[in-house]
Amino acid sequence: MMFEQTKDRVKDALDISDVINSYIPLKRFGNNYKALCPFHTEKTPSFSVNVEKQKYYCFGCQKGGDVFQFVMDYEQTDFPNALRTLAQRAGIPIPEKSGSTEVNPDTNKKDELFKINHLLANWFHDNLLGNVGKSALDYTLNRGVNQDVLNTFRIGFAPESWDHTLSWGKKNGFGGDAMLQAGVCVQKTGASNQVSNYDRFRNRLMFPIWNEQGKVIGFSGRVLGKDDSGGKYINTPETLIFHKGKVLYGLNLARDGIKKFGFALICEGQMDVIACHQAGYTNAIAPMGTAFTEAQARLLKRYIDQVIFLFDGDAAGQNAVIKSIDSFLPVGLSAKVAVLESGEDPDTLVRSGNTNSLKEKIEGAIDYFIYRMDIEISRFDQNTPTGKTTITENILKELLRIESLVARGEYCRILAKRLNIPENTVLQELNRIMTKSKKPAFHYASEKSEEKVVSNLNVLDNVERQAEIILLELVVYHEKYAVRLLKDLPLEYISNSAVGRALNEILAHTEQGEWQEAVSVLAQKMGDYQSEDINKVMNDPNLVVDMRSEKLERIYILNLYRNFLFRKVKKKMKDIQDLINKAPTESALADLKNEKAKLNEESRQISNRLKEV
Ligand code: UTP
Ligand code: MN
Repeated sequence: MMFEQTKDRVKDALDISDVINSYIPLKRFGNNYKALCPFHTEKTPSFSVNVEKQKYYCFGCQKGGDVFQFVMDYEQTDFPNALRTLAQRAGIPIPEKSGSTEVNPDTNKKDELFKINHLLANWFHDNLLGNVGKSALDYTLNRGVNQDVLNTFRIGFAPESWDHTLSWGKKNGFGGDAMLQAGVCVQKTGASNQVSNYDRFRNRLMFPIWNEQGKVIGFSGRVLGKDDSGGKYINTPETLIFHKGKVLYGLNLARDGIKKFGFALICEGQMDVIACHQAGYTNAIAPMGTAFTEAQARLLKRYIDQVIFLFDGDAAGQNAVIKSIDSFLPVGLSAKVAVLESGEDPDTLVRSGNTNSLKEKIEGAIDYFIYRMDIEISRFDQNTPTGKTTITENILKELLRIESLVARGEYCRILAKRLNIPENTVLQELNRIMTKSKKPAFHYASEKSEEKVVSNLNVLDNVERQAEIILLELVVYHEKYAVRLLKDLPLEYISNSAVGRALNEILAHTEQGEWQEAVSVLAQKMGDYQSEDINKVMNDPNLVVDMRSEKLERIYILNLYRNFLFRKVKKKMKDIQDLINKAPTESALADLKNEKAKLNEESRQISNRLKEV
């Protein structure tokens, strides 16, 4: 009972969009919000938050519910824990007993680890500012870190001792096992097989690592003296709450900055992130001493599409950029690279007072693939045949990963120019590599088939128009089809015609639970479109699709898919045509033809099924 009351009070006190926005970035959409769904991988946002209903729903994976459900799903925790988290946020006390009987031991454990990390970060920070941290503080200030940033990033100090941290734990009610699970101490087995613990971080400058929500989940400790036998940096090992490959250092502090700048600045490590923030680049983040993982790229993609790498200009830095790209491309992030000198990193630039130079380099960042060409050209001799060959091969392999054939062609052009070889040679080489990598070769389309493509396009235009009229009819008269289409129909397939735009508008509103309003607005604004097709749909009662029979419904749905497959085929045909005009490579054509054949096969199958209904 008390439980229910608390639940209602918490629900009333919080706004779901605020809560969700503290986990994932929401974009305003009318009165509501949209985002990339945190529960499945997607490139366009289908996760929406309805403020009026205080509910969220993803049209992609169908997850949805209220604010408690969101926290349960996101933090993978149970209801009592979600309630506790949200009550705390709302400042509403929870009667001690409510829910405590059903708490999952794992989430209990996680809570304890969060608590240890949080308190320990404070203690380390106090150490740095106190007597014990005097030389560590000197070191930090000497490196040019200012007081503000020192506080924002809660830089701290772990004293030189085998058990200082452990005894801090004891004093604060955390035994050796808990400290071990938090990763802040290490277990050793003595000579007589007896087991004991000692501090992991000794005489180190401590950087708390936060998750997206700003909870401390672990630490990175930098050696202070010259002796880095234990490693220059030591990080918390994998724990229940710390997963190195999933964290981005500084993301909790960079969320606003990333939005403001329109890109994320990717640094190599903590000191660089801190230096950038100090120089005003509050959009700086870093992976934790590894190349970017795909999980990190996906996390970032929820905030922004564009990143700029700001890595040391030495070979190690170059390789780290190259490696990280593997994670970026599949996720759909586009990357630029700010080119620094070898041995130069953001930290050294800012420390030497060279903030202007940092700014210039960020603003002059170049496209990743152009950067890649520069690197290959600098590594091999572009004046010898073997050098040219190696450079070309290395770049072309890279270009195969680009989806857009137009972009691929463009880079080939640039490469040819830079190596001073005929463009055709580069294109032929690309063909050869693609054939080797088992992509089928193909031949140039003859002029005859080009004519055929053109005439097909006209037929398809009409098919598309008819299809959209039917779709508009469906969604104007039936909310359920609007909901269904929202899910099934990629928006880019909707044309820019009046009908297409009307369709788009209704779907967008439906997503926000405003189907009814959208339809009445369309009825009022019909005149604005000046489209006979729309008038017909809205006014001709004979046109209303009869959905009473299930068979009819099936036919329409199948028809719908068929028509849209046609549209896809049409788009591919257009691509082929564009390429024919631009003297394409055989393999590029092969790709397109191949895909077209697949689409044709698909639409043929659907047509067949249609006959059976
Ligand atoms: P760097 O060696 O480039 O250090 O490591 P840095 O950031 O320039 O630091 P300073 O300027 O020497 O103090 C980059 C990142 O790689 C990880 C850390 O996250 C570091 O910030 N790293 C480095 C480790 O995890 N372990 C190491 O031993 C070294
Ligand atoms: Mn450095």
